[in-house]
Amino acid sequence: MSGERKLLLLPGDGIGPEVIGEVPRVIKWLEAKRGIGFKVDQDLFGGASIEAHGKALTEAALAKAKAAGAVIFGAIGGPKWTDNQPERGLLKLRKEMGLFANLRPAVCFDALADTSSLKHDLVSGLNIMIVRELIGGIYYGLPSQIDDLGNGERRAYDTEVYTTHEVHRIARVAFDLARKRKNHVTSVEKSNVMAAGRLWREEVQKIRDDEFPDVELQHMFIDNCAMQLIRQPKQFDVILTGNLFGDILSDEAAMLTGSLGMLPSAALGAPEAGGGPCALYEPVHGSAPDIAGQGIANPIATILSFAMALRYTFDLDMEAHLIERAVNSVLAAGMRTVDVLEDGMTKVSTSEMGAAIVKELDLLAG
Ligand code: IPM
Ligand code: MN
Repeated sequence: MSGERKLLLLPGDGIGPEVIGEVPRVIKWLEAKRGIGFKVDQDLFGGASIEAHGKALTEAALAKAKAAGAVIFGAIGGPKWTDNQPERGLLKLRKEMGLFANLRPAVCFDALADTSSLKHDLVSGLNIMIVRELIGGIYYGLPSQIDDLGNGERRAYDTEVYTTHEVHRIARVAFDLARKRKNHVTSVEKSNVMAAGRLWREEVQKIRDDEFPDVELQHMFIDNCAMQLIRQPKQFDVILTGNLFGDILSDEAAMLTGSLGMLPSAALGAPEAGGGPCALYEPVHGSAPDIAGQGIANPIATILSFAMALRYTFDLDMEAHLIERAVNSVLAAGMRTVDVLEDGMTKVSTSEMGAAIVKELDLLAG
């Protein structure tokens, strides 16, 4: 990555500002201790932006996002805004930035294998990469509306739609990643019922046969996959799926790792000519309005999302790895936010967790 490293922080709603609030600590540490500088900007997004500007995503915020090397985003939405307007802002941002590839790694940290709702042996060492298509499918398909039929009845419909090129480009991302991992892709759809699922299966198979004959490909129906994920999660390496199924499976996979508060994600676009890919990094968890403002949210998913930005956008794999190790050590030392608290461990707040991770970075980098 040439030039300066530009970051845009979009805290958003609910616990978003609290968890994003821990990122500057890590940025400061990188600057002070590793000489790695960033140009950091911040803007409103989602409900917070609706309150201030009347819309979830302003043109100015969108322009900043497009100009940044990486956007780090907290969470969006809440009970105050029941018309889904904030969520629409996120969908618009993803679409406008061309972020078609959503990488959601579900990694179980050793220290947390007992906080999962599954048995220790089923999840210890778990390392799955979910590759979710992010700017197509039923999230964006038209028509999508509610009609008044005039007789007291209403009718609502959404459209699941995929084109070959949309399937091809996300399939390539999954196969490429698989080559750096265990070389196995499970493609997930509902081709026994849906036309979009049939096209998905055929086109994924085609890309595998034409371009990645060395990668093992398995097809699985979504219902079976949801079941297999809790039966024997370690059978998976890379899971490739569409927008809606990826949304659901990633919440499920997150829980296997101990807490939804642990999972980072990256949304990547196509590399632009000459530059890096456009990218947005965010924790998989939502805005959690029930615990917002109490300073108890787990900032780890967000800090790990920042680590993913270091790895994928800024080519700082070593620093990303260092952050991941620091997180593991802090958890192993028994420092826990309330979502991953176990008997005999120390309950810490959002900011105490951020501070502990930075302290651990000092020790590790020694
Ligand atoms: C996610 C979220 C979003 C999604 C919502 C907030 C629109 O659930 O990132 O997983 O459905 O993609
Ligand atoms: Mn989701």
